[in-house]
Amino acid sequence: MIKALRGMKDIFDSRFLKILDTAREVAENYGFDYIETPILEETNLFKRSVGESSDIVNKEMYQFTDKGGNDVCLRPEGTAGVVRSFIEHKFDRQATPKRFWYFGPMFRYERPQKGRLREFHQFGIESFGTANIYEDINIISMAADIFDKLNISYTLKINSLGCPKCMPVYKENLVKFLNEHKENLCVDCQRRITQNPIRTLDCKNESCRAILKDAPKITDNLCEVCENDFETLKNGLKNLGIDYEVDKNLVRGLDYYTKTTFEFISNEIGAQSAIAGGGRYDRLVEFLGGKPTPAVGFAIGVERILDLVESEEKRNGIYMGALVNEALDFILKEAKKLRSQEKVFVEPNTKSLRAHLKAADRGNYKKVLIAGEDELKKGEFFTKEL
Ligand code: HAM
Repeated sequence: MIKALRGMKDIFDSRFLKILDTAREVAENYGFDYIETPILEETNLFKRSVGESSDIVNKEMYQFTDKGGNDVCLRPEGTAGVVRSFIEHKFDRQATPKRFWYFGPMFRYERPQKGRLREFHQFGIESFGTANIYEDINIISMAADIFDKLNISYTLKINSLGCPKCMPVYKENLVKFLNEHKENLCVDCQRRITQNPIRTLDCKNESCRAILKDAPKITDNLCEVCENDFETLKNGLKNLGIDYEVDKNLVRGLDYYTKTTFEFISNEIGAQSAIAGGGRYDRLVEFLGGKPTPAVGFAIGVERILDLVESEEKRNGIYMGALVNEALDFILKEAKKLRSQEKVFVEPNTKSLRAHLKAADRGNYKKVLIAGEDELKKGEFFTKEL
């Protein structure tokens, strides 16, 4: 028997659509527009945006050469494709800010476990064209609204990675610290010292964590502008009643971030506890060849919150069935009218009343309309509420 690939799942759960509908409604109320980009992109797009030294690019890409000899890859995340599209369609040449929401599958060749799939879905948003920190507050508030609407509780963690002015100074301090402790760091962190030192800050290795507790923190090394923005961010969240924790090690696994980074964590779903992640990426548009355009965004992991969403197993819709074949035309005609208002299922096979009621009950319908010879003559239905 052929089965779905490891880490990939068939989806039947209607809560999936409930998440999409809720998130979409909130995003549209915040003034975001729909965008859908291709699932397959040039590999280089991800190498250059997510970063060559990131785990995603290094170890987790579904990368292959297509029949035309192009090096392509299934998207591991949504931001890079949206930025590519933003530049390609010359939105970077327009003065107005541009805000998008998207929903779709992402692919990472990770070791599957609870909450970690190889094909998973993200609901994401990207906001282009404003460097104002109030936009960061705005989008964090949007994510919080989505979780509130879905009745999901969370812890919000925030950090600032600084800007091209303060980050290099900080990196130098950090590299100095890391070199002093090099022998006791794991091989990955030893490699990160030269490749991407700030990624050592979220190493999962216990001995590295113990050492890095004493490492210099970026939030203690921010320039004046970044420091003020981080204060404004914290005050803005307080003002909206959104609780947060500052996590000085929250550097995130993608290389494009500057300034604000954040994650929403759930303590009800086990080890893979991040239900959303995002941040500011003011340099990525320019880095990918566009006009310098500040941007900020986030993505929610749909499968991670699926079990936290209440299912709507309430009875709904109408079940219609015939006791005799002659009643079917009458039933189909009535069903067509009723469908403008409600979900209507028509059972095309004739059955006994008892069998129809049983099928309607199993199908979770709210109401049953049955027609036999008598009903057909009178032009009405035998009706039962379930
Ligand atoms: P990310 O943190 O890599 O960020 O992913 C966002 C969310 O996707 C995670 O918080 C998690 O809920 C979910 N997720 C990630 N990997 C998996 C997996 N293997 N299985 C199931 N769920 C997963 C990004 O992707 C950025 N593009 C977010 C962003 C948008 N930043 C700025 N704009």
